[in-house]
Amino acid sequence: MTAVPALRVTDLCKSFSGIMAANNLNVEAADGEIIGIIGANGAGKTVFVNMITGYLKPTSGKIEFQGKDITGIEPRNATHVGVCRSFQVSQVFMSMTVEENLLTALSICKQAGRAMLQSPRAPDLLIECEKLMELYNITGHRDQVASTLSQGVRKLLDIAMAVVSNPKILLLDEPTSGVSVEEKFGIMDIVIQALREQGATVLFVEHDMEIVERYVDRVLAFYQGEIICDAPPAEALINPQVIEYVIGGEHAPNMNASEDAIHA
Ligand SMILES: Nc1ncnc2c1ncn2[C@@H]1O[C@H](COP(=O)(O)OP(=O)(O)OP(=O)(O)O)[C@@H](O)[C@H]1O
Ligand SMILES: [Mg+2]
Repeated sequence: MTAVPALRVTDLCKSFSGIMAANNLNVEAADGEIIGIIGANGAGKTVFVNMITGYLKPTSGKIEFQGKDITGIEPRNATHVGVCRSFQVSQVFMSMTVEENLLTALSICKQAGRAMLQSPRAPDLLIECEKLMELYNITGHRDQVASTLSQGVRKLLDIAMAVVSNPKILLLDEPTSGVSVEEKFGIMDIVIQALREQGATVLFVEHDMEIVERYVDRVLAFYQGEIICDAPPAEALINPQVIEYVIGGEHAPNMNASEDAIHA
C-alpha cells in the first residue's frame, strides 16, 4: 500500500498487572474501509478501541492516524484530530429529546478552542442538527424524549452524536447490542449508509456474525489479546481458528462454503 493509511497500529501492547490484554497488535485501515472487530468476551476488543481513542495508554507500540503519531493522545484531542467513538453503553441524555441531545453534542463539539459554549439554538448548529437527523433517519423522533425511544432508534441517536465533529475514523463498540432482531438490520443499513456517505473509516465491535457478514469489508478476530485473523468476512468467518475461538461451531454463518467446510 503506497498511500498513507488512515490508521496504522504497530506492535501495540497493553498489560494489566502482567496480563496481556493486547499482545503485539498490527493493523492498517485504509480511508473509507469498514472493519468488523470480533472476539469472545474478554478477548481485548474494547481495550483495542480504548487505546486508539486515547481512553487507555498502551504499554508499548505505536498508533498513527494519517501518518501522525497519536500514541497516548488524550481522548479530547483524539476527537479534535478526527478519531471518534461510541461506547458499549449508550451515552445519550435520557431526559432530553432527540433534537436537544444532538444540539448539545454539536454545541460541545463547537466549543473547542472557545471560552464559552455556543448556544445550542445558534443557526449553524440548527442546520447541522437537521442534516444529521436526516442522515440518521431520526427526524420523525426529534421531539421524543430519549428514554422513550426504542433501543434501535436510541443507537441511531447515539451514533449521530458520535459523528457531530465529522470524524475521519469512527470506532463503534457494539452498535447493535441491546437492539432487537427485528430492528438491527434496519438500524445498520442506516448507520453504514450514513458513514459511507460521510467517508469515514469505521471499526466496529460486533458479536453478531450476520451483521459482520453483511456490512464489513474486513474482519479482525481477537483471541486472548491477539489478532488471530485479519481477512475479508468470506475468508475470516470460515477460518477454523475463528470458528473455534470466536464464533463457536454451532453459530457459524452460512457463507458460500458448504456446511462440511465450516465444521471441518
Ligand atoms: N482497566 C482494566 N484493568 C484491568 N484489566 C482490564 C481492564 N480493562 C480490561 N481489562 C482486561 O482486559 C481483557 C480484555 O478486556 P476487554 O474489555 O477488551 O474485552 P472485550 O473483548 O471488549 O470483551 P466484551 O465482549 O465482554 O466486551 C479482559 O481480561 C479484561 O478483564
Ligand atoms: Mg468490550
